[in-house]
Amino acid sequence: MTNPKKLIHGPHHQRTTHPLVWFAAIICTVIAIAVIIAGIAVFVGYMIIHPRVPFITVTSAHLDNFQNSVAGLVDTEITIVVRAENDNTKAHAVYSDTSFILSFQGLNIAKLVAYPFEVKKNSSVDFHYLVQSSSIPLSPELMDQVDISLKRDKIIFNLKGNLRARWRVGLLGSVKFWCHLNCQLKFHPSNGTYIRSPCSSRAK
Ligand SMILES: *[C@@H]1O[C@H](CO)[C@@H](O)[C@H](O)[C@H]1NC(C)=O
Ligand SMILES: *[C@@H]1O[C@H](CO)[C@@H](O)[C@H](O)[C@H]1NC(C)=O
Repeated sequence: MTNPKKLIHGPHHQRTTHPLVWFAAIICTVIAIAVIIAGIAVFVGYMIIHPRVPFITVTSAHLDNFQNSVAGLVDTEITIVVRAENDNTKAHAVYSDTSFILSFQGLNIAKLVAYPFEVKKNSSVDFHYLVQSSSIPLSPELMDQVDISLKRDKIIFNLKGNLRARWRVGLLGSVKFWCHLNCQLKFHPSNGTYIRSPCSSRAK
């Protein structure tokens, strides 16, 4: 005869995982997978579209007028042609927050702005800026600079600024970045000719 074994249950030490913890773990896993898939989608989209960064270039300019008076006041008028290019064959580019400052020897002469505009795939848009500034007061040092510039028949302005470019990339939303422009615009004051030099936001 065998005695029936008596099963004795001790105190239950094993901790059960709370269902909420499981739930949180599953949510986290799902989010992590979603992030990875989104990353792959963006990367593949980038490789397919193979974006070329839109850029801006000063294509031409002309010094229409530059006159200084003995009182140290300068009147000037400059035409600047800025080209916004979108070499991309698969995405439109939208440019916004355009803001350039034209200065002479550190003295701000004019601010050039543009409303947001769109550049179609594989095309470009030219902007003609007419900068007119009258009675810009010059310090004696700047007056000397102007005299030297006129004698050498070469005057240098600075054009500096930013604009924001944005692509519409189908379902992936949009890609934004800043274009920076910082260059010298040189002219012959005698006839207003622009002395060509590279001026582009494209990384060198
Ligand atoms: C882009 O434009 C250039 C010249 O404007 C042209 O030669 C080229 O075929 C165009 N590319 C596409 C894909 O439209
Ligand atoms: C303007 O003047 C400069 C120097 O004086 C000269 O080199 C240039 O050819 C002139 N340009 C025109 C269009 O006359």
